[in-house]
Formats: sequence, C-alpha cells, structure tokens
Amino acid sequence: MAHTVAAQDIATADAAAHDWWRSSVIYQIYPRSFADSSGTGVGDLRGITARLESLADLGVDAIWLSPFYRSPQKDAGYDVSDFRDVDPLFGTLDDFDAMVARAHELGLRVIADIVPNHSSDQHPWFQAALAAGPGSKERERYIFRDGKGEHGELPPNNWESVFGGPMWTRVTEPDGTPGQWYLHIFDTSQPDFDWELEEVREEFDGVLRFWLDRGVDGFRVDVAHGLIKADGLPDFVQDDEEASMGGGAATQSPYWAQDRVHEIWRRWRKVTDEYEGQRILAAEAWVYPLEFMANWVRPDEMHQTFNFGYMETHWDAADLRAVIDDSITTFGAVGAPSTWVLSNHDMIRHATRLALGKDTPQGHGVGPASPGLPDVEEGIRRARAASLFMLSLPGGAYLYQGEELGLPEAIDIPDEARQDPTWHRTEGERYGRDGCRVPLPWEADAPAYGFSPTGDAWLPQPAVYGTLARDAQSGVEGSTLEMYRAALRLRREHRIGVGSGDVAWEDSPEGVLIHRVGDIRVIANVSGAPVPVEGDVLVTSHALEDGALPADATVWVRVRG
Ligand code: GLC
Repeated sequence: MAHTVAAQDIATADAAAHDWWRSSVIYQIYPRSFADSSGTGVGDLRGITARLESLADLGVDAIWLSPFYRSPQKDAGYDVSDFRDVDPLFGTLDDFDAMVARAHELGLRVIADIVPNHSSDQHPWFQAALAAGPGSKERERYIFRDGKGEHGELPPNNWESVFGGPMWTRVTEPDGTPGQWYLHIFDTSQPDFDWELEEVREEFDGVLRFWLDRGVDGFRVDVAHGLIKADGLPDFVQDDEEASMGGGAATQSPYWAQDRVHEIWRRWRKVTDEYEGQRILAAEAWVYPLEFMANWVRPDEMHQTFNFGYMETHWDAADLRAVIDDSITTFGAVGAPSTWVLSNHDMIRHATRLALGKDTPQGHGVGPASPGLPDVEEGIRRARAASLFMLSLPGGAYLYQGEELGLPEAIDIPDEARQDPTWHRTEGERYGRDGCRVPLPWEADAPAYGFSPTGDAWLPQPAVYGTLARDAQSGVEGSTLEMYRAALRLRREHRIGVGSGDVAWEDSPEGVLIHRVGDIRVIANVSGAPVPVEGDVLVTSHALEDGALPADATVWVRVRG
C-alpha cells in the first residue's frame, strides 16, 4: 500500500532527528464536526481528506481522530459496535486508507482513538452476553452481577455514572424475567468490559494490530485510567467538587486508576514497539496529582499523557508557572516530556473557559442559563494569548479543531438540539459537551459556513462562527489563524518545544510570565501592567500599545545580542 512507503519515509527522516512525539503538535479532528463531504450534516472521512492540506499548511505534525468506528452514536462514536470497521456515517475502510495515505503524503502522522474500557451495547459480544444468560462465558466479557434486595431489584452497588444516574442497568433475561445488572461507567449504551479476562486483552491486541497494519502512527487511549475495577466492587461516592472523570491518588476510587491497569499498558507498549516508525500511545488519564499521572508514561508504558493539570489551570500567572514547573519536573522524572493542551471535545472551549469563573467542572458545559457568561471578545483575546504561550513550552502540544480560529463555545444551542448523553441523563442539569463540538466554519459565505454542501449541520452553528470562518482569516494579518500559523512555523524553525528541559524563566513583574528559548523571548502578560517590549516582534497575540504588551496578551520577540 502506498501509505506504508510514505510512513517509512517519515520514519527515516526521524532517525536523524529526535523522537518525533516529544515535541510534536498534534491536531485533534472531531470527525463528525470537521468537514462533511456527503451533505448529511455529519462530517466524514472524505471531508477530512479533502481538507488535510489546510492542516499541513497550518503547520501541525500529526492529526488525532476521535472515533470513526461502527457505532450507534449514542455517545458520538465512543460507543463502538465494531472496533475493526468504519461507521457508514463516516465512510468505509477504503476511505480511511485514502485519508491515511493523503496525510502521510503531506507529512502528517495519524493517531487513532481507541476505546478499550467499554463497547456499545450493540457490539456482538454484548448481544451474545444478553442472549446467553447468567453464568455464561459470554457474560464474563462484561461486568454482570446479581442485584441486591429480595428480588435483585437494587443495583449491586452505589456507583454513579460519569454522565449522571446509576452506573448499573438491569437486563431482561432471555426468558423474559427481570435479571442481572451490568456495569457502565458512562451511558447505559456503553457496557464496561471485564479486563480481568485474557480473552478481552487478546481481542484488543488484535484491534491495535489491525490499525497499526493499516498505517496509523499511534493511539490516543480513551479512559486510560479506567478498565480495572477494585475487587469486590465496594461502594463509593465520587466527590461532587471533583471532575466526574477524576481519580486521585488521595481519594482513590474503586473504578479509576487501579494499579493493575498498568499491566495492560505495558502489554500494549510491546505491541506498538513491534512496529517501525515510533508508533505512540497517548493516555487520557484524568488523575491527580501529576506525580500519579506520570505513572502512565513510565518508560515501558505510554509515550504521552494529556496534561489535564495544565488544561484545568485558570488564567493566572502564578498558577500557570507552578503547573508548568511541576509538569516538567514530574514527567521529566520518568523520562517523559510534558504535553500541553487547552481544549478538546470534552471541555468548554478555552476561548470561553478562560473568561469564566474557576468552578466549571469538566464535562458540565455551559448554556444559556449558566451564571456569569463571559464576554466573547475577552475570551478570544485570552485564548489567543494562552495558545501562543502554550506553543512556546518544551514538550508536545495538542490543538483541538477550531481553536486556531479562536472559536468560542456555542452556548445558545436549543434544548431540543442537544445530543450529549450528559444533558439527557442529568435531565438538563448539566449542559454537557455539545457546545465544543459544533461543526467548523470553513467559508463565511457558504451554507453551514462551508461545513457541508447542503447546509446541514448536526448541531446549529452560532452566527459568530461566520465571522471567524477560516477563509475570513486566511491571509489576514493579525487573525487568530495567522497567529497560529506563524507560531507553528517559528516553532519548527527554532526547534521550540524540543527537549524536556526546564523552562528558562526570566524575572518578571507580578501577573507576567517571561521565558527564553534560544534567542527568542516569550512574554505572557496574564493580568499585569503593560510590559515594555524590546527586540523584534516575531508574533504577537495582540498589537503592542506604545511599545508595550497589554494584559491578556503574549508576544514572541527576537532578542538582539
Ligand atoms: C472519554 C471521551 C469522551 C467519552 C468517554 C466515554 O472521556 O473523551 O468523549 O464520552 O471517554 O468513552
């Protein structure tokens, strides 16, 4: 296959460089909202292929695609019914191969999203488990238990699903009677596998190889702190103040971050290491503190882990500096680079989040009735400053589609249009994640802003997306898109991000962060007084005012001498 050759070319080029993933910028594509070639209102693989050039032009190193596998789409594809096929909504395996080939041709690596904690309830294994009844081999692949109470009418324990409501659902047995319960950390449609079973482990070795053989350069591993549950499934109540996905070393939950999950990652690392070209594993592990998170990137485990500590840090100079230093020391202690990330498909977009109060837990979202909604302009301004600063840090960075346009969260989505199971399972108490998943605007004057040829979009796009469309920003000096493009070009030219060394901080007034990378000085004015700027401005998130950098702005300058 043509793409295999291209993948080897990339590998050869790398041999002379350093491990590519240590400083790469990986762009997250959320397939249903990226580009729709067929006019269904849902994005697809051909749409992605057709638009890949714009990502190469932006200057990223790789793309990560959220799930495109066969799925009933109860949790936007994170409910997989066939781990080895593409959902017809997104295209075919041939479309996938063509997409990978095109990406490699453009020098972009491709990371797939793998979802090992659970399957869809429509997965043949789960259907077989329902049909086979209690005590069967088929049920062992999932977590079925008898209920409590006289007639088994109560769930086996008190665990609550991340999306709200109980973590257990009762089934009707093949003979029509109410029967056992099955465990689902997420939606009812997402039963958890039992990872104690060797058969489940072997199945996933096969799934990894299936996609590695097709040329993927690695995997983002969904819920990499899940999978293993504590023996006996003891009762536990998650602290409401914590993100519902959070597992802490201190508040050890029986379903997050069990020590034995690491056996699985060591096993996966052996599989990816069998392949040429540095295929990587990146963990979605919402665990704290960072010392605990670093366990996921020990030398024989994963390559990267999303730095949610950084992502959840508010726009505050002292807090930012603390989390950056902590990240570099902590990940460095196990030989791993830090990653930096500000947005993804589960978080309020940072163009909105950074102008909100500190207390909006991950996954809860914002909507029209949320208190203290931020000013759109202020949010975008802070987001630009935060992104430009992030791209100067040593380590790998992740971008989420649309942040290069400065897109804010879509807040005014009508109730009836909302799709996230979080919204439905909490009966509207939490808005959930739809607001960050709205289809991208490509062209200001086209139907659905160029997202689909018919003008359909699976979630309504806010009017502000028109003014922020890619074509309205391309080539426009000072636009968010051009700022990202310039930063990514400079990052390559100056090898910024390379190495997991310390940040070379320079003295700075309160509310300001200053550091030096080679002959570039990076100044982030988070909330301080205007900072006089010396040297040639290479890129800035906001025009200087009388030779000074105002608050909520970042600049990179070349220092003379
Ligand atoms: C991860 C995904 C999220 C999904 C959940 C269940 O957190 O990022 O979107 O809902 O896992 O698979």
